[in-house]
Amino acid sequence: MAFRSEKSKQIYARTLGVLIEGSSSSSRGPANFGKYPIFMERGSGSRIFDVDGNEYIDWMMAFGALPLGHAHPEIVEAIGEAANTGAHFATATQVELEVAEMLQRMVPNAERVRFANTGTEAVMAAIRLARGVTGRPKILKFEGHYHGWHDDLLVSSNVMPVSSLGLRSDPVKIPDSSGLNRSALDDTIVVPWNDLEALQVAIENHPGQIAAIISEGIMANMGVIPPAKEYLPGLQKMARANGILFILDETVTGFRIAPGGCQEYYKLSPDLVTFGKAMGCGLPVAALVGRAEVMDALQSGGVLHYGTHNGSRIGMYAARASLRVLTRNNNAAFRHTWRVAERLCSGYRKLFKKKGVAAIMQNVGPMFQVMFTDRPAIGDYREFCQFVDRAAFQKFVLSLFPFGVYASPSASLHSIVTLAHTEEDVDLTLEAAGKALDESCEE
Ligand SMILES: Cc1ncc(COP(=O)(O)O)c(C=O)c1O
Repeated sequence: MAFRSEKSKQIYARTLGVLIEGSSSSSRGPANFGKYPIFMERGSGSRIFDVDGNEYIDWMMAFGALPLGHAHPEIVEAIGEAANTGAHFATATQVELEVAEMLQRMVPNAERVRFANTGTEAVMAAIRLARGVTGRPKILKFEGHYHGWHDDLLVSSNVMPVSSLGLRSDPVKIPDSSGLNRSALDDTIVVPWNDLEALQVAIENHPGQIAAIISEGIMANMGVIPPAKEYLPGLQKMARANGILFILDETVTGFRIAPGGCQEYYKLSPDLVTFGKAMGCGLPVAALVGRAEVMDALQSGGVLHYGTHNGSRIGMYAARASLRVLTRNNNAAFRHTWRVAERLCSGYRKLFKKKGVAAIMQNVGPMFQVMFTDRPAIGDYREFCQFVDRAAFQKFVLSLFPFGVYASPSASLHSIVTLAHTEEDVDLTLEAAGKALDESCEE
Protein backbone atom coordinates (compact mmCIF):
# COMPACT_ATOMS: atom_id res chain seq x y z
CA MET A 1 0.00 0.00 0.00
CA ALA A 2 1.32 3.45 -0.89
CA PHE A 3 2.37 5.63 2.01
CA ARG A 4 -0.24 8.23 2.92
CA SER A 5 -0.34 10.77 5.71
CA GLU A 6 -3.41 12.89 4.93
CA LYS A 7 -5.19 11.96 8.16
CA SER A 8 -2.13 12.82 10.25
CA LYS A 9 -2.00 16.14 8.46
CA GLN A 10 -5.69 16.79 9.13
CA ILE A 11 -5.46 15.86 12.81
CA TYR A 12 -2.40 18.04 13.22
CA ALA A 13 -4.34 20.95 11.71
CA ARG A 14 -7.06 20.36 14.34
CA THR A 15 -4.52 20.44 17.17
CA LEU A 16 -3.29 23.90 16.25
CA GLY A 17 -5.76 25.86 18.37
CA VAL A 18 -5.60 23.36 21.24
CA LEU A 19 -2.32 21.54 21.77
CA ILE A 20 1.17 22.98 21.70
CA GLU A 21 3.14 21.43 18.83
CA GLY A 22 0.37 18.89 18.29
CA SER A 23 1.26 16.72 21.29
CA SER A 24 2.39 16.72 24.93
CA SER A 25 6.16 17.01 24.57
CA SER A 26 8.28 19.17 22.29
CA SER A 27 10.27 16.16 21.13
CA ARG A 28 7.17 14.78 19.38
CA GLY A 29 6.19 17.88 17.45
CA PRO A 30 6.80 19.25 13.95
CA ALA A 31 10.32 20.44 14.81
CA ASN A 32 11.46 16.84 14.41
CA PHE A 33 9.04 15.73 11.73
CA GLY A 34 9.07 18.58 9.27
CA LYS A 35 5.55 19.86 8.62
CA TYR A 36 3.51 17.62 10.94
CA PRO A 37 4.03 14.54 13.11
CA ILE A 38 2.62 11.12 12.24
CA PHE A 39 -0.28 10.25 14.55
CA MET A 40 -0.14 6.67 15.79
CA GLU A 41 -3.23 4.65 16.55
CA ARG A 42 -2.24 1.24 17.86
CA GLY A 43 0.68 -1.08 18.46
CA SER A 44 1.28 -4.81 18.60
CA GLY A 45 4.62 -6.52 19.24
CA SER A 46 7.29 -4.76 17.20
CA ARG A 47 4.76 -2.92 15.02
CA ILE A 48 2.85 0.35 15.20
CA PHE A 49 0.03 1.52 12.96
CA ASP A 50 -0.83 5.13 12.19
CA VAL A 51 -4.17 6.80 11.57
CA ASP A 52 -3.71 6.50 7.78
CA GLY A 53 -3.28 2.73 8.03
CA ASN A 54 0.50 2.63 7.52
CA GLU A 55 2.36 -0.09 9.41
CA TYR A 56 5.88 0.39 10.79
CA ILE A 57 8.53 -1.63 12.56
CA ASP A 58 8.97 0.54 15.64
CA TRP A 59 12.56 1.07 16.79
CA MET A 60 11.69 4.01 19.03
CA MET A 61 9.49 2.01 21.38
CA ALA A 62 8.19 4.96 23.36
CA PHE A 63 11.71 6.27 23.96
CA GLY A 64 12.63 2.91 25.44
CA ALA A 65 9.62 2.58 27.73
CA LEU A 66 8.52 -0.73 26.15
CA PRO A 67 11.15 -3.42 26.72
CA LEU A 68 8.69 -6.14 25.66
CA GLY A 69 7.23 -4.25 22.70
CA HIS A 70 3.63 -3.14 22.27
CA ALA A 71 0.68 -4.77 24.02
CA HIS A 72 2.60 -7.78 25.34
CA PRO A 73 -0.14 -10.21 26.50
CA GLU A 74 1.25 -10.58 30.04
CA ILE A 75 1.37 -6.80 30.48
CA VAL A 76 -2.14 -6.39 29.10
CA GLU A 77 -3.37 -9.06 31.52
CA ALA A 78 -1.56 -7.51 34.49
CA ILE A 79 -2.90 -4.03 33.77
CA GLY A 80 -6.41 -5.45 33.35
CA GLU A 81 -6.20 -7.32 36.65
CA ALA A 82 -5.13 -4.19 38.53
CA ALA A 83 -7.71 -2.01 36.78
CA ASN A 84 -10.46 -4.49 37.60
CA THR A 85 -9.62 -4.55 41.28
CA GLY A 86 -8.76 -0.90 41.94
CA ALA A 87 -6.27 1.21 39.98
CA HIS A 88 -4.61 2.79 42.98
CA PHE A 89 -5.22 3.06 46.71
CA ALA A 90 -2.29 5.30 47.70
CA THR A 91 -1.89 2.99 50.70
CA ALA A 92 0.83 0.43 51.30
CA THR A 93 0.34 -2.57 48.99
CA GLN A 94 1.96 -5.97 48.75
CA VAL A 95 2.70 -5.63 45.05
CA GLU A 96 5.11 -2.75 45.84
CA LEU A 97 7.01 -5.06 48.13
CA GLU A 98 7.14 -7.75 45.46
CA VAL A 99 8.51 -5.38 42.82
CA ALA A 100 11.03 -3.98 45.32
CA GLU A 101 12.19 -7.51 46.15
CA MET A 102 12.59 -8.22 42.44
CA LEU A 103 14.74 -5.11 42.14
CA GLN A 104 16.86 -6.28 45.05
CA ARG A 105 17.49 -9.57 43.25
CA MET A 106 18.36 -7.89 39.96
CA VAL A 107 20.20 -4.71 40.93
CA PRO A 108 23.40 -5.09 42.98
CA ASN A 109 23.15 -1.93 45.13
CA ALA A 110 19.38 -1.91 45.70
CA GLU A 111 19.50 -2.25 49.47
CA ARG A 112 16.49 0.06 49.67
CA VAL A 113 13.87 0.98 47.07
CA ARG A 114 11.55 3.98 46.65
CA PHE A 115 9.10 4.24 43.75
CA ALA A 116 8.21 7.33 41.74
CA ASN A 117 6.53 7.93 38.39
CA THR A 118 9.11 9.37 36.02
CA GLY A 119 12.86 9.50 35.59
CA THR A 120 12.73 13.22 36.34
CA GLU A 121 11.11 12.60 39.71
CA ALA A 122 13.54 9.84 40.65
CA VAL A 123 16.51 12.08 39.83
CA MET A 124 15.01 14.99 41.79
CA ALA A 125 14.67 12.73 44.82
CA ALA A 126 18.24 11.45 44.40
CA ILE A 127 19.62 14.98 44.33
CA ARG A 128 17.70 16.10 47.38
CA LEU A 129 18.80 12.99 49.19
CA ALA A 130 22.45 13.56 48.26
CA ARG A 131 22.34 17.16 49.48
CA GLY A 132 20.52 16.16 52.65
CA VAL A 133 22.86 13.32 53.56
CA THR A 134 26.14 15.09 52.78
CA GLY A 135 25.12 18.59 53.88
CA ARG A 136 26.82 19.87 50.73
CA PRO A 137 25.21 22.12 48.11
CA LYS A 138 26.70 21.28 44.72
CA ILE A 139 25.88 18.66 42.10
CA LEU A 140 28.29 17.80 39.32
CA LYS A 141 26.79 16.79 35.96
CA PHE A 142 28.24 16.17 32.53
CA GLU A 143 27.92 17.94 29.20
CA GLY A 144 25.40 16.24 26.93
CA HIS A 145 23.76 14.22 29.71
CA TYR A 146 20.04 14.75 30.24
CA HIS A 147 18.50 13.91 33.60
CA GLY A 148 14.94 15.18 33.22
CA TRP A 149 13.40 18.59 32.89
CA HIS A 150 13.74 19.90 36.47
CA ASP A 151 15.72 23.10 37.07
CA ASP A 152 18.91 21.90 38.80
CA LEU A 153 20.27 19.84 35.93
CA LEU A 154 18.67 21.45 32.90
CA VAL A 155 21.93 22.72 31.54
CA SER A 156 24.31 21.84 28.68
CA SER A 157 22.26 18.90 27.53
CA ASN A 158 21.18 20.20 24.12
CA VAL A 159 23.19 20.08 20.92
CA MET A 160 24.83 23.49 20.48
CA PRO A 161 27.29 25.10 18.07
CA VAL A 162 30.68 24.02 19.31
CA SER A 163 31.86 27.66 19.40
CA SER A 164 29.38 28.35 22.21
CA LEU A 165 30.63 25.59 24.53
CA GLY A 166 33.74 27.32 25.89
CA LEU A 167 36.93 25.50 26.78
CA ARG A 168 36.92 21.88 27.92
CA SER A 169 38.76 23.06 31.02
CA ASP A 170 36.04 25.64 31.78
CA PRO A 171 32.81 24.76 29.94
CA VAL A 172 30.17 27.45 29.53
CA LYS A 173 27.03 26.42 31.39
CA ILE A 174 24.28 26.72 28.80
CA PRO A 175 20.77 26.65 30.32
CA ASP A 176 18.45 24.46 28.25
CA SER A 177 15.37 26.51 29.01
CA SER A 178 13.99 29.91 29.85
CA GLY A 179 12.16 30.20 33.13
CA LEU A 180 14.62 28.36 35.34
CA ASN A 181 14.94 29.46 38.93
CA ARG A 182 17.66 32.12 38.62
CA SER A 183 19.89 30.50 41.20
CA ALA A 184 19.14 26.91 40.22
CA LEU A 185 22.34 26.48 38.26
CA ASP A 186 24.61 28.24 40.79
CA ASP A 187 25.15 24.92 42.50
CA THR A 188 25.47 22.88 39.31
CA ILE A 189 28.94 22.12 38.03
CA VAL A 190 29.22 21.06 34.38
CA VAL A 191 32.16 18.96 33.21
CA PRO A 192 32.97 17.16 29.91
CA TRP A 193 32.27 13.42 30.14
CA ASN A 194 34.76 10.64 29.44
CA ASP A 195 37.57 12.86 30.75
CA LEU A 196 38.94 11.92 34.18
CA GLU A 197 41.42 14.78 34.20
CA ALA A 198 38.65 17.38 33.77
CA LEU A 199 36.70 15.67 36.55
CA GLN A 200 39.68 15.74 38.89
CA VAL A 201 40.19 19.48 38.30
CA ALA A 202 36.49 20.24 38.91
CA ILE A 203 36.56 18.30 42.19
CA GLU A 204 39.73 20.09 43.31
CA ASN A 205 38.14 23.46 42.49
CA HIS A 206 35.23 22.80 44.87
CA PRO A 207 36.68 21.15 47.97
CA GLY A 208 34.04 19.86 50.39
CA GLN A 209 31.24 21.41 48.30
CA ILE A 210 30.07 18.62 46.02
CA ALA A 211 27.23 16.43 47.29
CA ALA A 212 27.01 14.16 44.25
CA ILE A 213 28.28 13.37 40.82
CA ILE A 214 25.46 12.24 38.55
CA SER A 215 26.23 10.33 35.39
CA GLU A 216 24.54 8.10 32.89
CA GLY A 217 26.24 4.74 32.33
CA ILE A 218 26.03 5.30 28.59
CA MET A 219 25.45 8.77 27.14
CA ALA A 220 22.01 8.31 25.64
CA ASN A 221 21.02 11.87 24.89
CA MET A 222 23.60 12.28 22.10
CA GLY A 223 22.69 9.15 20.17
CA VAL A 224 24.65 6.45 21.95
CA ILE A 225 28.11 7.25 23.35
CA PRO A 226 29.71 4.51 25.46
CA PRO A 227 31.93 5.28 28.43
CA ALA A 228 35.67 5.21 27.80
CA LYS A 229 37.36 2.15 29.27
CA GLU A 230 37.95 2.62 33.00
CA TYR A 231 36.10 5.98 32.97
CA LEU A 232 33.19 5.03 35.23
CA PRO A 233 35.29 3.07 37.76
CA GLY A 234 37.70 6.05 37.81
CA LEU A 235 34.82 8.46 38.42
CA GLN A 236 33.51 6.26 41.21
CA LYS A 237 36.92 6.10 42.86
CA MET A 238 37.34 9.89 42.74
CA ALA A 239 33.87 10.44 44.17
CA ARG A 240 34.54 8.07 47.03
CA ALA A 241 37.93 9.56 47.81
CA ASN A 242 36.30 12.98 48.17
CA GLY A 243 33.21 12.08 50.19
CA ILE A 244 30.99 12.67 47.14
CA LEU A 245 28.02 10.41 46.40
CA PHE A 246 27.86 8.70 43.01
CA ILE A 247 24.39 8.75 41.42
CA LEU A 248 24.12 6.50 38.40
CA ASP A 249 21.17 7.55 36.24
CA GLU A 250 19.87 4.36 34.66
CA THR A 251 16.61 5.86 33.45
CA VAL A 252 17.56 4.75 29.94
CA THR A 253 19.95 1.86 30.54
CA GLY A 254 18.01 0.15 33.34
CA PHE A 255 16.38 -3.20 32.49
CA ARG A 256 17.97 -2.91 29.06
CA ILE A 257 21.75 -3.35 29.12
CA ALA A 258 21.66 -6.14 31.71
CA PRO A 259 19.27 -7.24 34.47
CA GLY A 260 21.24 -4.99 36.84
CA GLY A 261 21.80 -2.28 34.22
CA CYS A 262 25.11 -0.53 33.63
CA GLN A 263 25.90 -1.09 37.27
CA GLU A 264 26.16 -4.81 36.58
CA TYR A 265 27.59 -4.51 33.06
CA TYR A 266 30.43 -2.14 34.01
CA LYS A 267 30.85 -3.61 37.52
CA LEU A 268 30.08 -0.40 39.41
CA SER A 269 28.90 0.23 42.95
CA PRO A 270 27.08 3.59 42.92
CA ASP A 271 25.51 5.02 46.06
CA LEU A 272 22.20 5.78 44.37
CA VAL A 273 20.60 4.63 41.12
CA THR A 274 17.59 6.04 39.31
CA PHE A 275 15.32 4.03 37.00
CA GLY A 276 12.38 4.99 34.79
CA LYS A 277 11.32 4.31 31.21
CA ALA A 278 11.57 0.50 30.81
CA MET A 279 10.50 -0.17 34.40
CA GLY A 280 6.77 0.13 33.89
CA CYS A 281 6.65 -1.37 30.40
CA GLY A 282 4.55 1.53 29.11
CA LEU A 283 3.19 2.78 32.41
CA PRO A 284 4.76 5.64 34.36
CA VAL A 285 6.90 3.82 36.92
CA ALA A 286 10.29 4.96 38.19
CA ALA A 287 12.47 4.05 41.14
CA LEU A 288 15.26 5.37 43.27
CA VAL A 289 17.36 2.60 44.81
CA GLY A 290 20.60 2.60 46.71
CA ARG A 291 22.71 1.93 49.76
CA ALA A 292 20.68 1.68 52.94
CA GLU A 293 22.88 4.18 54.75
CA VAL A 294 21.96 6.88 52.22
CA MET A 295 18.39 5.85 51.37
CA ASP A 296 17.33 5.63 55.01
CA ALA A 297 17.47 9.43 55.21
CA LEU A 298 14.10 9.33 53.41
CA GLN A 299 12.73 7.94 56.70
CA SER A 300 9.89 9.95 58.26
CA GLY A 301 10.33 12.77 55.78
CA GLY A 302 13.85 13.61 57.02
CA VAL A 303 14.51 14.12 53.35
CA LEU A 304 11.08 14.54 51.91
CA HIS A 305 9.80 12.52 49.00
CA TYR A 306 6.05 12.39 48.40
CA GLY A 307 3.83 11.65 45.41
CA THR A 308 0.17 10.68 45.13
CA HIS A 309 0.85 8.29 42.29
CA ASN A 310 4.08 6.75 43.61
CA GLY A 311 3.82 2.96 43.45
CA SER A 312 0.45 3.15 41.66
CA ARG A 313 -1.16 -0.25 41.64
CA ILE A 314 -1.55 -0.46 37.85
CA GLY A 315 2.05 0.60 37.36
CA MET A 316 3.32 -1.91 39.90
CA TYR A 317 1.33 -4.75 38.31
CA ALA A 318 2.82 -3.86 34.94
CA ALA A 319 6.35 -3.60 36.38
CA ARG A 320 6.03 -6.96 38.16
CA ALA A 321 4.82 -8.68 34.99
CA SER A 322 7.51 -7.03 32.87
CA LEU A 323 10.36 -7.93 35.22
CA ARG A 324 9.07 -11.51 35.32
CA VAL A 325 9.19 -11.75 31.53
CA LEU A 326 12.60 -10.08 31.31
CA THR A 327 14.20 -12.41 33.84
CA ARG A 328 12.49 -15.62 32.68
CA ASN A 329 14.74 -18.52 31.56
CA ASN A 330 17.79 -17.06 33.17
CA ASN A 331 17.38 -13.58 31.62
CA ALA A 332 16.79 -14.90 28.09
CA ALA A 333 15.20 -11.57 27.03
CA PHE A 334 18.54 -9.78 27.43
CA ARG A 335 20.34 -12.37 25.32
CA HIS A 336 17.65 -11.95 22.67
CA THR A 337 17.93 -8.15 22.45
CA TRP A 338 21.73 -8.26 22.30
CA ARG A 339 21.64 -10.91 19.56
CA VAL A 340 19.06 -9.07 17.43
CA ALA A 341 20.95 -5.79 17.95
CA GLU A 342 24.17 -7.38 16.77
CA ARG A 343 22.52 -8.52 13.54
CA LEU A 344 21.00 -5.07 12.99
CA CYS A 345 24.12 -3.06 13.80
CA SER A 346 26.51 -5.21 11.78
CA GLY A 347 24.01 -5.14 8.91
CA TYR A 348 23.90 -1.36 9.01
CA ARG A 349 27.71 -1.13 9.08
CA LYS A 350 27.97 -3.38 6.01
CA LEU A 351 25.29 -1.34 4.26
CA PHE A 352 27.07 1.98 4.83
CA LYS A 353 30.29 0.45 3.53
CA LYS A 354 28.61 -1.04 0.47
CA LYS A 355 26.86 2.21 -0.42
CA GLY A 356 29.85 4.41 0.41
CA VAL A 357 27.80 6.49 2.84
CA ALA A 358 29.63 8.58 5.45
CA ALA A 359 27.75 7.15 8.41
CA ILE A 360 28.52 5.00 11.43
CA MET A 361 26.47 2.85 13.76
CA GLN A 362 27.15 3.29 17.49
CA ASN A 363 25.62 0.86 19.92
CA VAL A 364 25.94 -0.80 23.27
CA GLY A 365 23.83 -3.94 23.03
CA PRO A 366 20.21 -2.99 22.31
CA MET A 367 20.77 0.79 22.38
CA PHE A 368 21.84 1.93 18.92
CA GLN A 369 22.09 5.01 16.76
CA VAL A 370 23.08 5.82 13.19
CA MET A 371 25.30 8.90 12.99
CA PHE A 372 26.04 10.65 9.70
CA THR A 373 29.66 11.64 10.09
CA ASP A 374 33.01 11.06 8.47
CA ARG A 375 34.60 10.27 11.85
CA PRO A 376 35.26 6.62 12.74
CA ALA A 377 33.54 7.10 16.13
CA ILE A 378 31.92 9.80 18.25
CA GLY A 379 33.40 9.78 21.74
CA ASP A 380 31.84 12.75 23.51
CA TYR A 381 29.29 15.53 23.45
CA ARG A 382 31.59 18.04 21.77
CA GLU A 383 32.37 15.64 18.95
CA PHE A 384 28.66 14.99 18.52
CA CYS A 385 27.94 18.74 18.30
CA GLN A 386 30.78 19.29 15.85
CA PHE A 387 30.86 16.25 13.61
CA VAL A 388 27.37 14.71 13.42
CA ASP A 389 25.15 15.80 10.53
CA ARG A 390 21.77 15.93 12.21
CA ALA A 391 19.88 17.16 9.17
CA ALA A 392 21.08 14.12 7.19
CA PHE A 393 19.84 11.84 9.96
CA GLN A 394 16.43 13.49 10.02
CA LYS A 395 16.13 13.16 6.25
CA PHE A 396 17.17 9.49 6.42
CA VAL A 397 14.64 8.61 9.13
CA LEU A 398 11.78 10.45 7.44
CA SER A 399 12.61 8.60 4.22
CA LEU A 400 12.33 5.28 6.11
CA PHE A 401 8.68 5.91 7.01
CA PRO A 402 7.27 5.08 3.54
CA PHE A 403 9.20 1.78 3.70
CA GLY A 404 7.55 0.86 7.00
CA VAL A 405 10.31 1.65 9.49
CA TYR A 406 9.87 4.08 12.37
CA ALA A 407 12.41 5.82 14.63
CA SER A 408 12.70 9.26 16.15
CA PRO A 409 13.86 11.74 13.49
CA SER A 410 15.99 13.52 16.11
CA ALA A 411 19.66 12.59 15.70
CA SER A 412 20.22 12.76 19.44
CA LEU A 413 17.43 10.30 20.32
CA HIS A 414 18.67 6.75 19.89
CA SER A 415 16.74 3.61 18.98
CA ILE A 416 16.05 0.43 20.93
CA VAL A 417 15.84 -3.30 20.34
CA THR A 418 13.17 -5.01 22.44
CA LEU A 419 12.06 -8.54 23.14
CA ALA A 420 9.41 -8.11 20.43
CA HIS A 421 11.89 -7.45 17.61
CA THR A 422 12.80 -10.39 15.40
CA GLU A 423 15.51 -11.21 12.91
CA GLU A 424 12.89 -10.70 10.20
CA ASP A 425 12.33 -7.15 11.49
CA VAL A 426 16.07 -6.58 11.17
CA ASP A 427 16.20 -7.85 7.60
CA LEU A 428 13.18 -5.77 6.55
CA THR A 429 14.72 -2.71 8.20
CA LEU A 430 18.03 -3.16 6.42
CA GLU A 431 16.25 -3.59 3.12
CA ALA A 432 14.28 -0.39 3.79
CA ALA A 433 17.43 1.47 4.84
CA GLY A 434 19.13 0.43 1.58
CA LYS A 435 16.24 1.82 -0.46
CA ALA A 436 16.08 5.02 1.60
CA LEU A 437 19.81 5.59 1.14
CA ASP A 438 19.52 4.96 -2.62
CA GLU A 439 16.74 7.54 -2.81
CA SER A 440 18.69 10.15 -0.92
CA CYS A 441 21.81 9.51 -3.08
CA GLU A 442 19.74 10.00 -6.25
CA GLU A 443 18.51 13.43 -5.13
C1 LIG B 1 19.11 9.61 31.52
C2 LIG B 1 17.76 10.18 31.74
N1 LIG B 1 17.41 10.54 32.98
C3 LIG B 1 16.19 11.05 33.25
C4 LIG B 1 15.27 11.22 32.25
C5 LIG B 1 13.91 11.79 32.56
O1 LIG B 1 12.96 10.77 32.52
P1 LIG B 1 11.42 11.12 32.30
O2 LIG B 1 11.26 11.56 30.89
O3 LIG B 1 10.72 9.83 32.60
O4 LIG B 1 11.06 12.18 33.28
C6 LIG B 1 15.57 10.86 30.94
C7 LIG B 1 14.59 11.01 29.86
O5 LIG B 1 14.84 10.85 28.69
C8 LIG B 1 16.86 10.35 30.67
O6 LIG B 1 17.23 10.02 29.42
